[in-house]
Amino acid sequence: MANVLSSILKMFLFSIVCIFLSCNQKKPQMENMVEKWRPAYHFTPDSMWMNDPNGLVYADGIYHLFYQFYPASNVWGPMHWGHATSADLVKWDHQPIALYPDSLGYIFSGSAVIDTGNTAGFGKNAMVAMFTHHNDKMEKAGSNVFQYQSIAFSNDGGKTFTKYDGNPVVKNPGIRDFRDPKVSWYAPGKYWVMVLAAYDRAKFYTSPDLKNWTPTGEFGIPGDDRLWECPDLVKLKVEGSEEYKWVLITSIQKRAPNGGNGTSYFVGDFDGKTFKGDVKKQRWVDYGTDNYAMVTWGNTSGERTLALGWMSNWLYAQNVPTTRWRSTMTLPRELSLVKEGDDYTLVSKPAAELMTLKNSKLEIKDDKNLLVENKALGQCKMAGTLKATSGDVKYILSNSKGEQLTFGYEAKTNRWFIDRTKAGVNNFFTGFAAKHYGPVMTQNTDQNFEVYLDATSIELFINGGRVVMTDIFFPSEGYSKLKTTGGQNTSVVIFNLIGLK
Ligand code: FRU
Repeated sequence: MANVLSSILKMFLFSIVCIFLSCNQKKPQMENMVEKWRPAYHFTPDSMWMNDPNGLVYADGIYHLFYQFYPASNVWGPMHWGHATSADLVKWDHQPIALYPDSLGYIFSGSAVIDTGNTAGFGKNAMVAMFTHHNDKMEKAGSNVFQYQSIAFSNDGGKTFTKYDGNPVVKNPGIRDFRDPKVSWYAPGKYWVMVLAAYDRAKFYTSPDLKNWTPTGEFGIPGDDRLWECPDLVKLKVEGSEEYKWVLITSIQKRAPNGGNGTSYFVGDFDGKTFKGDVKKQRWVDYGTDNYAMVTWGNTSGERTLALGWMSNWLYAQNVPTTRWRSTMTLPRELSLVKEGDDYTLVSKPAAELMTLKNSKLEIKDDKNLLVENKALGQCKMAGTLKATSGDVKYILSNSKGEQLTFGYEAKTNRWFIDRTKAGVNNFFTGFAAKHYGPVMTQNTDQNFEVYLDATSIELFINGGRVVMTDIFFPSEGYSKLKTTGGQNTSVVIFNLIGLK
């Protein structure tokens, strides 16, 4: 009997090991599978719909990325918070959904903080998420006050959240669009500050405990009726000085420089209650069409300010031709401020961690009319310089189907551009096939650029990141050829990224 039992046990264990091995064998195959249009080093949800980054917070060596997520479809719907984590901002691990809709509504955009002082009483170092509850039933019933702010806390590093039973913590004061709270700790006053979008302006609140909030001020452009979304307030040191300024970042739903929505900013001061800045000086974080709802990570070490945007545009986000998933995040970017004359400019650079992607050099060239043929071009990095004498320069990426994406500099108008008119599939939205322009924003006559390409996106960092252009496109086959035209005295280096062949 003992023998029979022991052989049954052995067979059982043997089959468990077989199942385990066969599962494990399948994994590498899956990982090698290249899905059409899936970027290699940008964050995408494994499947279904994603929009804004939410709850960006750094804790215990981990970057958290929560995001607007609808797990039941590849178009927008009842919003949840999806969740991903990364130790290096390059490789992201998918985590279970963090927040589900409830009786108070869908879970719209918001932020997260680490409550080191246990001000809320949820426990020392609790991760506290603050978000908008969007009550769809109230909206359909014709109410005007269907958006209000709520909180939830996690005591296990963001794995699971408990919603606060006193929600909502900020009731709607009678403003239809009242959402996207971004919370941060204001050290000089030892209290929390929150900025949120209230239709055509930002409103500021303060709180000792994340539960009780007092309105303290607002900032908007008088007479401008554009809708604001996803504001953020950050303190930045002016490069090469001891001066600090505050930057109010805000996404604007229409009339961005190249159409549709975009992320803008104002540079000014914050006295712990409200932001003051020149309303006439609204600048753009990005001159491409595909960086929306960009916000920063909270709790980062030192003085690093890291930001992430949603790499799409509401004009066509729900129609882009990917099917398993929709939307990608931008590269994580490090923000700083430079001052030239009396003007401050927000500078965005790819986060330094992305240097780990740099693999082998594909080609270096010191003159005009370069031609490179390599399958890795669709997912590469380029860095180049232009002299005042360079004139017009074009970098044309193409594939065997005759599709081409062009970026470059136009000397006559002193502008940079990305031209996606012939870049690939574009019939999903009239106006997607377009050429976008960005200014130069430097007093130097020598210019430089850095470009990141990743299957369906181009991120062009111009003149040390003073101007950024982010655009998406959908080639029916990866680009495999690069040709340059014009450009006396230009140089360009091309890097193969993450060992792609
Ligand atoms: C911005 C936005 C936010 C809102 C969320 C809803 O893209 O409209 O204002 O909270 O998306 O998904």
